[in-house]
Amino acid sequence: MATHSLFLLPGDGIGVEVMGEVEKLVAWLNKEGKGDFSIDRGLVGGSAYDKHGAAISEDDMRKALAADAVIFGAVGGPKWDKVPYEVRPEAGLLRLRKDLQLFANLRPAICYPALAEASSLKRELVEGLDILIVRELTGGVYFGEPKEITDLGNGQKRAVDTQVYETYEIDRIVRVAFDLARTRGKKVHSADKKNVMKSGVLWDEVAQSVARDYSDVAFHHILADNAAMQLVRNPKQFDVMVTDNLFGDILSDAAAMLTGSLGMLPSASLGAPDANGRRKALYEPVHGSAPDIAGKGVANPIAMLASFAMALRYSFGLIELANKLEASIAAVLDDGLRTGDIAQGGKSVGTEEMGAAVLKKLAA
Ligand code: IPM
Ligand code: MG
Repeated sequence: MATHSLFLLPGDGIGVEVMGEVEKLVAWLNKEGKGDFSIDRGLVGGSAYDKHGAAISEDDMRKALAADAVIFGAVGGPKWDKVPYEVRPEAGLLRLRKDLQLFANLRPAICYPALAEASSLKRELVEGLDILIVRELTGGVYFGEPKEITDLGNGQKRAVDTQVYETYEIDRIVRVAFDLARTRGKKVHSADKKNVMKSGVLWDEVAQSVARDYSDVAFHHILADNAAMQLVRNPKQFDVMVTDNLFGDILSDAAAMLTGSLGMLPSASLGAPDANGRRKALYEPVHGSAPDIAGKGVANPIAMLASFAMALRYSFGLIELANKLEASIAAVLDDGLRTGDIAQGGKSVGTEEMGAAVLKKLAA
C-alpha cells in the first residue's frame, strides 16, 4: 500500500484540465521516489449529477472520507444552472466540507514579484504581499437552520438563512489563525460585524479571549466591511485574517484578485487532528470551473499545483518538497511564462505547457 492516499475530484470545467497537471506531477514524484502516492478518482459537481443524479455519490463520499487527502478541482457551469437546488454542483463541495468536518479553510494570497503588474492595484501596494485568510468553513449562514423559502400565500414569499455560531466553532478557528500567525508575521485581524450581528458579538468575545493565550501575537478586531476596504486600500497591513464562512468567502476573493489573478490562488481545508495527529483535508484552487474557457487547454494550472503544494505541507509533512514546488512556480513566472489570465495581452502558453514548465523546474 502506498504511504499517502489521494482522492482526486476534478469536477467540472477547467477543474478537469488543471487536475491533469497534478496527475503528471504525482506520477513524476512516484517515479522519482520523492513520494509514494496512490491515486483514486471520483466525480463531483455537474459531472457527478450527470452520472448519478447527485452532486457526489455515496461511494465517492466514502472514498473521500477514507483518503489522506482529497484534491479538488472546481464545480459548476451553465449546463447545470437549472438542476434542483439540493443537487446543484456546489452541493457536492459543501457536503464534502461538512461531512469531512473541514472547519479550517486556509487561503493564502501571495503576490509573486513577477506578477505585481498584473494586479488591479499599483505595484507598490501589492509587491511582497503575503496575506493568509483563515475562513471558518463548516458553520455560519452556509449551514445554519432554518434555511428555507416559505410561500406566504398572498403572492409573497419569505426567505430565511440562519447565521449561527457556537463558542467552540469560533474558538477552534481563531486558534488555527493564531497558531499560523506564530509561524509568520505574528499578527491576527479578526473580522466580523459585531456592530450589527449577535454572531459578531460572540465572535469577537471568543476571539478576544483566545488572543489572551497568545501574548506574542498582535491582535486586532476589524469590522468586515472595513476589512474589505482596507484590503484594496493598503493590503500589506495584514498578516493573518480570521473570519466567518460568508465574510471569508467574500474577503478571500478580494484578496485573491490583489495578486493578479484568481488563477493563482490555492487553498487548504483542514479538519481537527485525530489522536494520531492525522487530519482530514481537502485542497482546491480558489478559482471556479471557468466555463467560458473550459476545454480549450488555456486554464492556468498554478492554483491547482499550489494547492497540491499545500497538501504536501499540511497533510504529508513534505515541507521541503512543498517549498520546492512553490519555488518552481515562482521561477517559471520569473522566466516570463504566462497563461492567458496573467499575460496582460502579451504572449501566453496553455495549461499543459505551464504544468510541464513547473515540473521541469522541480526536476532541475
Ligand atoms: C468558494 C466558493 C464556494 C463557496 C461555492 C462554490 C459554494 O465560492 O469556495 O469560495 O461559496 O464557499
Ligand atoms: Mg468563493
